Amino acid sequence: MKTIIGNWKMHLGIRESIAHARGVLRSVMGHEVLPEIVICPSFTALSEVRKVLVRTRVALGAQTMGTERFGAFTGDVSVAQLDDAGCGFVIIGHSERRAMNGESDAVVNAKMKLIAQTSLVPILCVGESKESRVAGKAEEFVAQQLGAALRGVTLTKASRLVVAYEPIWAIDTGVSATPADAVAMHGVIREALRTIGVGAAVQVLYGGSVDGANAYSFLREPGIDGVLVGGASVKIHEFEAIVNAGRDVMIAQNV
Ligand code: 13P
Repeated sequence: MKTIIGNWKMHLGIRESIAHARGVLRSVMGHEVLPEIVICPSFTALSEVRKVLVRTRVALGAQTMGTERFGAFTGDVSVAQLDDAGCGFVIIGHSERRAMNGESDAVVNAKMKLIAQTSLVPILCVGESKESRVAGKAEEFVAQQLGAALRGVTLTKASRLVVAYEPIWAIDTGVSATPADAVAMHGVIREALRTIGVGAAVQVLYGGSVDGANAYSFLREPGIDGVLVGGASVKIHEFEAIVNAGRDVMIAQNV
């Protein structure tokens, strides 16, 4: 099984989101073999998109969540509220939030602790900067990020963890990592998770300038369980091509 997640970021209003979600459904209709597909609209569109996705094979996710259970936290949305809104997934620690919204390792860790007590699946994002890669410190950096995010987090065998390797320099730049670089880092991530002793079922996805043209080259790698897609996920033909690449790989490799 491959997993394809669309992070719509701060794109699309409610009507556009409904139309786009319908477009995603149209592109998967009639196919028996399908990757797991998750779409993550803005908060404002969650409840309307949920209605579109009811009883389909496309799941709903959120782009972030707050660090508290409930209370006087203006502007925040709790994990319970996301559950209530029909989300099965939530992106945690995206590099845009780390860079622009002050989400430190401690904040990411607090969110992971909260989500571990729910049935939502965290999509935990990690990834190094260009400087870190040039300095040869990328692997160390990513392993450290994972350790910090998961410190004291209890994930049982029954829980599921999605880790998305998204090198910062590849996000929204049109310059993706090479599949070989991604595979190498995915190996580092799996090893780090083993060392930490994560018991959960883990999938490791690649994200960063994935589009319809390069998706197959990532998805065909056995070490890459799927892709987390930003810009191309709000373009229906691109997203459809990425989903089709996932199907092609699943059929060709019987995975
Ligand atoms: P792009 O696909 O636009 O590079 O964004 C990747 C990303 O940040 C997904 O979370």
